[in-house]
Amino acid sequence: MEKNTPLIEIKNLSRWYRDNPAKLFEKLNLSLDVNDFFVLTGKSGAGKTTLVKFITGKLTPPEKTIFYNRQDMATFTSEDIQILRKRLGIIFQDYQLLEDLSVRENIIYPLELYELGETVIESKLKQVLQKVNIKHFLDTPVKLLSAWEKQRVSLARALIHDPEFIIADEPTGNLDRENTQVVADILIEANKSGNTIFLITHDIHLLNYLKAKHPIKLYVIK
Ligand SMILES: Nc1ncnc2c1ncn2[C@@H]1O[C@H](COP(=O)(O)OP(=O)(O)O)[C@@H](O)[C@H]1O
Ligand SMILES: [Mg+2]
Repeated sequence: MEKNTPLIEIKNLSRWYRDNPAKLFEKLNLSLDVNDFFVLTGKSGAGKTTLVKFITGKLTPPEKTIFYNRQDMATFTSEDIQILRKRLGIIFQDYQLLEDLSVRENIIYPLELYELGETVIESKLKQVLQKVNIKHFLDTPVKLLSAWEKQRVSLARALIHDPEFIIADEPTGNLDRENTQVVADILIEANKSGNTIFLITHDIHLLNYLKAKHPIKLYVIK
């Protein structure tokens, strides 16, 4: 896809929860272009994760408020959402890994959607192992790993199908500064090789590191 083409456009989106009358955001407008490195920041409770739920199809937005590739997400069927999910790589602060499965099983899990043969899976695994350093615990059950090991597994899982769009919601929330920079570098490399990045963070060290190293688009949610 071309640069400067909108991938996500948000128009006048407001959101609150029924049992929580405080508005999260009101008339939010933003747009994220293909190949952007977009960083969304804002205080805890501002509604950032709620916005991720809209963009990933876990919540249905009101009509004509969120457009994905110029299509109104309010009209998406469950098949549209399946197609969308194949194009996404998502990284969560709490990893959302399958704890009882091995690292390898967790990483190749997204590839199950594609019905790929064993050799293709092995070659994709090999590629992702060049980006993320997890080779030495591939056969370990995830539940035995440290926070930093788990976050690398979730990075590898997000990258393995070479998604056009990577969403990372507070990926460094449990990491120290050095490991935060490793995550930043992996996302920067993905962006350089053509992936669009949507990073949510309120980690000031991560923000400063990114600003110094790579062109980003910054949006502060109020
Ligand atoms: N399913 C829900 N029902 C009611 N309130 C919710 C729900 N999910 C989140 N909230 C509330 O909405 C606010 C924003 O949550 P969230 O989107 O997670 O913000 P952020 O990611 O910016 O910290 C919080 O006050 C949270 O408690
Ligand atoms: Mg959040």
